[in-house]
Amino acid sequence: MTRITNIPNLEGYGVFVDDIDFKNLSRQEWMDLGKLHMKKLVMIIRKTGLDKRSFHQVIKKWGKSRQNYAATLFTKYPWAEGNFRNILTSPDVDKHDKDIIREYWKIGGCNYKQGNILRVAEENGLFGSGELLWHSNESGDIAFTPGVALMGERGMCNSATGFMVTTPYYYSVSDSIRSELDEMILTHDFQTGKINVEDENLFLYKNMCPEPTEIPLVIQSPAGIKGLHYPYNTVTGSNNNRLLAEVKKGLEKYTYDYWWENDDDLLIFDNSIVQHRRLGHTKDRLCHRYQFDYTYLQYKVTKQNYIPYFQEPYRSRYVDKMNLIGNMLKHEGISFPVFV
Ligand SMILES: [Fe+2]
Repeated sequence: MTRITNIPNLEGYGVFVDDIDFKNLSRQEWMDLGKLHMKKLVMIIRKTGLDKRSFHQVIKKWGKSRQNYAATLFTKYPWAEGNFRNILTSPDVDKHDKDIIREYWKIGGCNYKQGNILRVAEENGLFGSGELLWHSNESGDIAFTPGVALMGERGMCNSATGFMVTTPYYYSVSDSIRSELDEMILTHDFQTGKINVEDENLFLYKNMCPEPTEIPLVIQSPAGIKGLHYPYNTVTGSNNNRLLAEVKKGLEKYTYDYWWENDDDLLIFDNSIVQHRRLGHTKDRLCHRYQFDYTYLQYKVTKQNYIPYFQEPYRSRYVDKMNLIGNMLKHEGISFPVFV
């Protein structure tokens, strides 16, 4: 019988799932777990018995794989028609862009049929070695991908993946501070050394913040949970820096570092209002990352498309970017909700 218990410190925004039997799990039970994940933001499923292949089979039932990097690239080179090879073989593309594609290829990108699952590892992987500071993925992209799943394979148990939730802080402050938070707009830009101090990927640059951007601090998660989009890796400032420094202090206690207990644990977490980090050792460590939209759960939970923002012009900018992403990825046979 599957057991569900709260993760310490996250104030109800995180659950452990134990004793799950994937071999006998019905589709309905798995989708119900997906809905629970959306409401809980962080889900740690211990001892899954899954491997990379079966991980892909189950996680793709929750949503489609998405990497905004590909959309940005194919917007720049529309003539490539979604084919990386066309860009790599073109004499008109500069070496820098080709290097990034080669790197992306090496870590497992460019393969939508197999879910575009990226290797996170020292060898031929993303974020090779060392600790990773607090961050979220695609954090300085107004249309960041909202979900991340990490499936361990080997060498996981000397490392921790940490989570920081922001919703309890948002509701802990006074009404007047909360309305100040609602008004805050943060500026984002790529900043060297803000995630992985030891060895950064070229790919990372494009992925985290393709261009300097402004994004509201208070947004909602796909399930409609209000919280803060305050990723330390790309935020450079705001219209209220004094309050922003207070927020950073206030968030410290809503964190939990999960020291991996089994190589086949599966961690699934929100990437909109939750930050994550890595501690410990990475020698011979290999895990697989699936970054995704809640394509098949979204409507079941909220009966509407996901728009993170409450105010203009950010809602419109988001919709425009999502339509662009949807358009670009049609080449790959991928489709997203179309916004009108
Ligand atoms: Fe990450």
